[in-house]
Amino acid sequence: MNIVLCGMMGVGKSTVGIKVAELTKRCWIDTDTVISNRYGSILDIFEYYGEAHFRGLESQVVGEYYEKDDLVISTGGGLVLHRENAERLKKNGKIFFLQASLDTLLSRIMTYDTRPLLRNTLGARKRMEQLLQERKPVYEYVSDYIVDTENKSADEVAREIVSLMEQL
Ligand code: S3P
Repeated sequence: MNIVLCGMMGVGKSTVGIKVAELTKRCWIDTDTVISNRYGSILDIFEYYGEAHFRGLESQVVGEYYEKDDLVISTGGGLVLHRENAERLKKNGKIFFLQASLDTLLSRIMTYDTRPLLRNTLGARKRMEQLLQERKPVYEYVSDYIVDTENKSADEVAREIVSLMEQL
């Protein structure tokens, strides 16, 4: 069974994912990292090929990994918004939505410049607010568990996920 982490940029899907993988002796993969190792930086992919192309690469990565077992998969913030990706990931996995408030998300994102969707946006806060509003209901819908990360360390969040998995 795989453990899939979804949620907004900055919520800590990668940091928590590594910890969950350590605790549960699973292999960790991060969809953004798989893509950037193969094709170059996410920023360049967005800039030169556009968002639709990037979304295609995300779906390709899901196609390669969803039938494997014992993985922790940290997904890019937009990946589970595509229904087919979420459905595939559910086949052999539990999806955890890591949740945080807008202020917390913004404070966890050190620099906006590595996130194409926030880059060159004067109103990064406004943009994040809009994305959060649009995406939250979808994250809630596709996830098996919602984990509130507010005022919690990555270790605490990881332990909470492990304990939910143990109750299965
Ligand atoms: C995106 C989030 C990013 C990355 C890309 C698009 C999004 O991943 O996949 O910039 O649509 O929210 P993180 O959520 O890891 O920042």
